Amino acid sequence: MPAIDHRPIFHLTAPSGWINDPNGVCHHGGRYHVYYQHNPGANRWGDIHWGHASSADLVHWRDEPLALAPSPGDDQGGCFSGSFARVDGMPTMFYTGYTPQRQVQCVATSQDMIRWTKHPQRTLAEPPPGVEAHDFRDPYVFAHEGWWYMVLGAGQEHRRAQCLIYRSPDGVHWEDRGVLFAAPHARHGVMWECPNLFPLGDRWVLTVSLWQGPGALAWVGRFEGERFLPDHEMVLDGDSGAFAHLAMRAPDGRTLQWAWMNEQRDQGLIDLDGWAGALSVPRELSLDARGRLLQAPAAEVALLRGDAADVAATGLDQGVLHRFQGRHLDIEAVFEAPERGRQGLNLCAAPDGSEFTRVVYQPEMRRLSIERARSSLTREVSHQNLHAHLALDPAEALELRVLLDGSVLEVFANRRVCLSTRVYPQSAASRLGEVFSEGPARAQCAVWRMRPMWAGKRAAALSGPA
Ligand code: FRU
Repeated sequence: MPAIDHRPIFHLTAPSGWINDPNGVCHHGGRYHVYYQHNPGANRWGDIHWGHASSADLVHWRDEPLALAPSPGDDQGGCFSGSFARVDGMPTMFYTGYTPQRQVQCVATSQDMIRWTKHPQRTLAEPPPGVEAHDFRDPYVFAHEGWWYMVLGAGQEHRRAQCLIYRSPDGVHWEDRGVLFAAPHARHGVMWECPNLFPLGDRWVLTVSLWQGPGALAWVGRFEGERFLPDHEMVLDGDSGAFAHLAMRAPDGRTLQWAWMNEQRDQGLIDLDGWAGALSVPRELSLDARGRLLQAPAAEVALLRGDAADVAATGLDQGVLHRFQGRHLDIEAVFEAPERGRQGLNLCAAPDGSEFTRVVYQPEMRRLSIERARSSLTREVSHQNLHAHLALDPAEALELRVLLDGSVLEVFANRRVCLSTRVYPQSAASRLGEVFSEGPARAQCAVWRMRPMWAGKRAAALSGPA
């Protein structure tokens, strides 16, 4: 057994085995549904099914039966990523059927969101000229101005990443409408996966994940004449390996997005734990007055807060300002207008200082980082630091919202930046938290112990010390 349990309790994981991309996220029949890429038989990628969890309130979740499984034919090698649409009122999943020879876009429908019927006669099989058969996947389908659109991840001759767009009058027959958007730069990769195009405020947002990573990109822009015109670009989750972001519209109009939080540890450690991969919490997306993308945990995440964790103020205005403890926490920390010196949080710290993870803002560099050099005593995990640019306005406070959940760490700063990753401290004693500042500072901090998101058996299995 590993020394410490890294399994999250309020981030979605599979009951066992492997999980990657969120798929087909939607609200239907009074429930939120999150499907996901899943290998039920092993802790590694392969034999890809669709797993499924659902919730009436985004707070309490239950596992549902497997939704899609590979079967002889187009998806015999795996049911790859895809999306949900209500076509003629019928819940419909568009997903990629995988075989080593080719990738084709498949369709399944359901009356109850649980049992899915495949429709092989509706398969979209042929990539357009110049697109290789293994670079043609992850359909995202949506309705707009009287048409159905399907956006696909692709690469042009496996040299330049691009999103393809198809159009349909009925959600059944599709017409190739060319390239929605091609990689502006070589650094954007040779092939994009999991494209997602959706309206937000008075703009549109396009997110894509870079084949072979490390991460995902978003552009805020416009969708005009079946083309996407970007205004500005951002790296999602600080290039951490968070991947395959997928958004949906909630019944109250909010845009909620999930992402896959990939493992950052060797297979040996994964096998000791017996599970792999998690999803982010649902994130609410919006735009600020300047058209910048804002990201924050959906309000419902705070409903999983349990007791307030004791936050002990040290009385100092420099060095360690507050102390708390825990491994499954929701933390709010506000630093008044930081001007100089590093400030932030130490998390998962051992009393002897041998392990700690640091969330740090450096005002002079306008940089937010997650430092993992000392996050784990073992070398079998990533120790790479992650960075994001964060320029505060004059007199603007640094507002951190940090979700720590076993090995999952999501950091939201002033809602403008989200950095997320995985950390794997090895010592059970590595559960101290500190608010620190190298220069004189005033900081407020509130910390809650989190409760499990699962109802029933899973909740019992997961509840341990916060
Ligand atoms: C992204 C991805 C998708 C594909 C799926 C297979 O992580 O590679 O492009 O559909 O995973 O599991």
